[in-house]
Amino acid sequence: MRLRGRKGIREALEAQPELIVLNPADYKGKWHEVFGNDRPIYVELGMGKGRFISQHSLLNPNINYIGVDMYDELLRRAAEKAIGAREGSGVTLANLKLALFNIEKIEDIFAANELERIYLNFSDPWPKKRHARRRLTHANFVHKYIEILNDRGEIHFKTDSRSLFEFSLNSFADMGLRMRNISLDLHAEGLRTDLVLTEYESKFYERGVNIHRVEVMIGRQALEEHVCQLEKQREQAQVPDANEEDGALADEEA
Ligand SMILES: C[S@@+](CC[C@H](N)C(=O)[O-])C[C@H]1O[C@@H](n2cnc3c(N)ncnc32)[C@H](O)[C@@H]1O
Repeated sequence: MRLRGRKGIREALEAQPELIVLNPADYKGKWHEVFGNDRPIYVELGMGKGRFISQHSLLNPNINYIGVDMYDELLRRAAEKAIGAREGSGVTLANLKLALFNIEKIEDIFAANELERIYLNFSDPWPKKRHARRRLTHANFVHKYIEILNDRGEIHFKTDSRSLFEFSLNSFADMGLRMRNISLDLHAEGLRTDLVLTEYESKFYERGVNIHRVEVMIGRQALEEHVCQLEKQREQAQVPDANEEDGALADEEA
């Protein structure tokens, strides 16, 4: 079903209850029941027209996704995109919900440990100092994210705004959070086809604007897995490859 026309947006949204959630606070602590399974839940805060969440949910049927925005017109457009992307593919919308709410009230929507990942893509930069508290990476918001993320919880943040990126790295660091895969120019080697682009990202990339990105590990398990991986990499870098050793011995013997 297509959701067309600017008029009657509410009616159009209400006609899609299996995809659109207009009363998300009713489901606090019950989102896994909403999806009907225990799979991880990934949320994009401020999804805009929804390309990212639509593509991600299509590519990863074993993850549940929730796209969030505070404008019903954007929910309508995101719904249209998600439906359109699946047309003729046979893939259902079962792992995707689009929820209407203001992120400032996120603690009313999700319970502790309910989410596994939060994507912040091209969040409004709020460049004026007096608006710093509105930035979605301000410590006030990050404290709320920490509460609702689970043991494997992570925040993945992308932005074109250098000042917001600097602010965010400081915000995460001041809170003692561990970061990885920090990039000041995500597509420096050419477009990263392994990552799903957002609408804003495409526009900025075409204009040659650098995209900044960071992953923040919140949950204990996420952090432990990262440390384990680093240790493995260190070991591999230190211990010479068995074949190399044999080669060296052979050289010595000769
Ligand atoms: C700059 S757009 C980025 C859209 C999309 N993530 C992208 O990268 O193309 C920021 C989006 O965040 C939404 N947004 C900003 N503040 C919000 C809030 N407090 N609650 C819900 N949505 C918000 C806006 O409505 C807008 O759609």
